[in-house]
Amino acid sequence: MKVLTVVGARPQFVKAFPVSEQLSRHEEVLVHTGQHYDEMLSSVFFEELPIPEPAYNLGVGSGSHAVQTAQVMERLDDVVDEEAPDVVLVYGDTNSTLGAGLVAAKRPVRLVHVEAGVRSGDWSMPEEVNRVVVDQCADLLCAPTDRAAETLRAGDVRGEVVVTGDVMYDALLAVREHALAHSTVVDDLGLTGESYVLATVHRERNTDSEDHLRSIVEGLASVSATVVLPAHPRTVAALEEYGLHEEAASALELVDPVGYLDFVALLSGAERVATDSGGVQKEAFYLDRPCVTLRETTEWPETVEAGWNVLVGADPASIRTALTRPLPNAAAKPTLYGGGEAAERVVRALSHPHAATADDD
Ligand code: UD1
Ligand code: UDP
Repeated sequence: MKVLTVVGARPQFVKAFPVSEQLSRHEEVLVHTGQHYDEMLSSVFFEELPIPEPAYNLGVGSGSHAVQTAQVMERLDDVVDEEAPDVVLVYGDTNSTLGAGLVAAKRPVRLVHVEAGVRSGDWSMPEEVNRVVVDQCADLLCAPTDRAAETLRAGDVRGEVVVTGDVMYDALLAVREHALAHSTVVDDLGLTGESYVLATVHRERNTDSEDHLRSIVEGLASVSATVVLPAHPRTVAALEEYGLHEEAASALELVDPVGYLDFVALLSGAERVATDSGGVQKEAFYLDRPCVTLRETTEWPETVEAGWNVLVGADPASIRTALTRPLPNAAAKPTLYGGGEAAERVVRALSHPHAATADDD
């Protein structure tokens, strides 16, 4: 079976590598859309992780949502002609996912969506639009949780729904030991164990609003612990545009984005996490780090219900309060996203249509 995997943004390199490892009995052709192109948002992941070198880079780069999606569609169309795959495999909720999903939907090829059925309920998020549309197009929907599968079934999707667990958990388990043994980032940044907050901010709603970004910087700056913020380039550009960069750099440990191994090491050593990322909310949960989510909604509500995540939006006082709340009880932490065999389940479902049912769970 020939599988055309389409990735393009940082979290997709992380999600794809455990599945690529499980695809060894098949032919996998990796397409990088080029949505992310900076060394620290793209090539570092290919250097560090066992993910195949892209056979194609579509060179899409940055642009409006429409332009990015349209360019993925136009350029991927030729690759699908050339490769004639049996399966197009996409991850998550980016414009690369959407573009590839729409190309596959109108061709005689199976579209497989990993991380299907996840919803924030916030239609103003571009990612929510992308998820809902790709779920409607997919032939096989790999849901990370029972809740996601129920959402899909209630939404009347056409495709087969399979609960696989979360491939990001597999990814984390695969690198955690190596990251802790080899990463020097915690020492390099002069941080001592569990005395710092690890923060990330890149969500459009936070970077494209001066009020939101200013409030987040104010909230993070108000805690007594050191706050380390590996800053996405769009966040750096926004801080500069709003004249906030100097203030942020003096109050916070503002650093360039780091590779996945360093990020896992930083997360493991952090006392708390503050983020508007989707994936980082789950990674904090996996590593027993209490998370404060700098948004009003989340696509991972289970982490909130379990007491490991709090939604605070961009309000400085709420950020401060949440970052000093009592720690949850790690001994009582539930298993929410499977046991680290999600990639295997994805590949089993993809290899044997209709064979992997909920009974496998
Ligand atoms: C995208 C995804 C988002 C995901 C994030 C992961 C969509 C709609 N958004 O957001 O869901 O959480 O990736 O990090 O697909 N830029 C660079 N260098 C790069 C890439 C981007 O400087 O290598 C800058 C450009 O100014 C660009 C901006 O970041 O305009 C935004 O990049 P884009 O890919 O559009 O969205 P992300 O915010 O990265
Ligand atoms: N990540 C990383 N370096 C960083 C920040 C994040 O390797 O400086 C990893 C993180 O561990 C997670 C993924 O990138 O696996 C999350 O990506 P991001 O927050 O950009 O996207 P989202 O999950 O919000 O779509």
